[in-house]
Amino acid sequence: MFDLRDLDVPVVAAPMAGGPSTPALVSAVSGAGGLGFLAAGYRTPDQVAAQVAEARRATSAPVGLNLFLVEPYAADPAALAAYRRALEPEARRHGVDLGTPRWDDDHREAKLDLVLDVRPDVVSFTFGCPGADVLARLRQHGVHAMVTVTTPAEAREAVRRGAASLAVQGPAAGGHRGRWDPDAAPDDTPLLDLLAEVVPAVDVPVVAAGGLVDAAGVEAALRLGAVAGQAGTAYLLADEAGTNPLHRAALTGPEPTGTRVTRAFTGRWARGLANRFMADHADAPAGYPHLHHLTAPLRAAAVAAGDVQVAHLWAGTGYRSARSAPAAEITRALAP
Ligand SMILES: Cc1cc2nc3c(=O)[nH]c(=O)nc-3n(C[C@H](O)[C@H](O)[C@H](O)COP(=O)(O)O)c2cc1C
Repeated sequence: MFDLRDLDVPVVAAPMAGGPSTPALVSAVSGAGGLGFLAAGYRTPDQVAAQVAEARRATSAPVGLNLFLVEPYAADPAALAAYRRALEPEARRHGVDLGTPRWDDDHREAKLDLVLDVRPDVVSFTFGCPGADVLARLRQHGVHAMVTVTTPAEAREAVRRGAASLAVQGPAAGGHRGRWDPDAAPDDTPLLDLLAEVVPAVDVPVVAAGGLVDAAGVEAALRLGAVAGQAGTAYLLADEAGTNPLHRAALTGPEPTGTRVTRAFTGRWARGLANRFMADHADAPAGYPHLHHLTAPLRAAAVAAGDVQVAHLWAGTGYRSARSAPAAEITRALAP
């Protein structure tokens, strides 16, 4: 059974849905002694199966796979309608129709079945935690189950249900907050404070995530008892990453500058480069994945048109430290 403490290099490449995580990125990071993750989010089960197979062909080192755990959510229809009206001028400017806001669970059951079938070495979950029955089944099938948590209460509950390890995500992280309660306001407890509280309270290995862009950052997390540092933003410019060209250019270009937490793009709090769309829609309602579907055509058009002020450009606060390089080199540079 996989054990995080056996990694040669205590570095995990965070799962990044929407393109950046590729089988080539996973095999490069795991091949360098760290742990790479594929991201199942937004993909069909068939696409995920093909990616796992490709990563397995490319490396005999451990392969991780990340799943969204989306619980039913009843978004407010009046708030969704008002937000649609607010977005119509944006859609007209880009010559697209907005999508239909709707809930779906990202093929949750089919992807859980797939995990039991293809058996990645590690499966991680975000946005929620599977029940004790599912976690027990994963353990019986030899799959290490890691659960993303953002508060000490989530950490204790994930361990109580049987998580094999925790990914503790702090507020500097790029992309979505893994907070289980989609209505909870984003918590700003710094990662190191969160680790200081969580590590002594649980008896499973803890991986630290959020704002780790160099060896000093990972070392600080290890000093507090984490067994590895998980970095996403630091890999966005990796040669093997599938990050789109607009996202790559925005990370190194003059604008937008700084990052901000928003739910304007997907209805769930996420950190990205602070652009005009975030500022103009700062009061966007909750509703994931309703808003994801509503804004999807607009975001795709913005990427195609090279519009950095409308595209969603997920990034953590440390994005200025991201470098273009082979992923193995980035992995080694993150190692204390
Ligand atoms: C572009 C991008 C996409 C992400 N997608 C996912 C995802 O699919 N699943 C997940 O659990 N976390 C996702 N995250 C969050 C990461 O797992 C991790 O918490 C975060 O990258 C750590 O902070 P850092 O970006 O400062 O390194 C994503 C992050 C980014 C930047």
